[in-house]
Amino acid sequence: MESARKEGIYMELIIDSSDIQSIKELNELLTIKGVTTNPTIITKSQRPAEDVIQDLVDLLDDDQLLFIQAVQTDTAGIIEEAKYIASLRKKNTYVKIPVTHEGLKAIKEVHKLGIGILATAIYTADQGFLAAMNGADYLAPYVNRMDNYGDGVQNVVELIEMLKVNNMPTKVVAASFKNTRQVHELIHAGIQAVTIPVDVAFNMINHPGTTIAVDEFSANWQKAYGRNTLVKK
Ligand code: E4P
Repeated sequence: MESARKEGIYMELIIDSSDIQSIKELNELLTIKGVTTNPTIITKSQRPAEDVIQDLVDLLDDDQLLFIQAVQTDTAGIIEEAKYIASLRKKNTYVKIPVTHEGLKAIKEVHKLGIGILATAIYTADQGFLAAMNGADYLAPYVNRMDNYGDGVQNVVELIEMLKVNNMPTKVVAASFKNTRQVHELIHAGIQAVTIPVDVAFNMINHPGTTIAVDEFSANWQKAYGRNTLVKK
């Protein structure tokens, strides 16, 4: 039988976590494009950073993306760590670089080396746009944190439009989500990628109504036919 579904290019759904068990679970449940981390996310695991990174490398397929952030904050240190991060896997590994002065200089140099870059800690559309001009492949605006200074979702929508009118290939991977509404609004606006924490991912999946509906189907079937399967055995 042929499926009516047409395969295509969809928004990239990325998990923002270093919780290996939860990432494994979500990787089975959903179509996950990759994993983002940052220094704080890795420290939250309370495990040696090298072990966490190795687990992520082992867990992901070659086609899934892994994003690791540079810890050093000066240009030379970021470039040094970018080379290390790029050496972790054969492909699809990106170095996350904050859009500080040192970071913007590093983005230019790391781009020249052919290493994939996600520009991070973005609080304004202008910061993101300028990082894209320097060669970033992905931009991570911090939606929830941006809400402290204005309308996070609206600023990200403007960033998407700024890239589009300039025909720039850089993708926006919206980050720092605290609720499903923020994610929903950006998917609705046509965002290219989102990176969401584990709790937000499960909040997008779970609904008590679904459980109630399934329990009702099972109970009605059992009552009518005295069994819990479609096919009589
Ligand atoms: C991801 O790339 C970011 O580092 C992350 O989403 C930041 O999230 P936070 O605002 O919850 O720290």
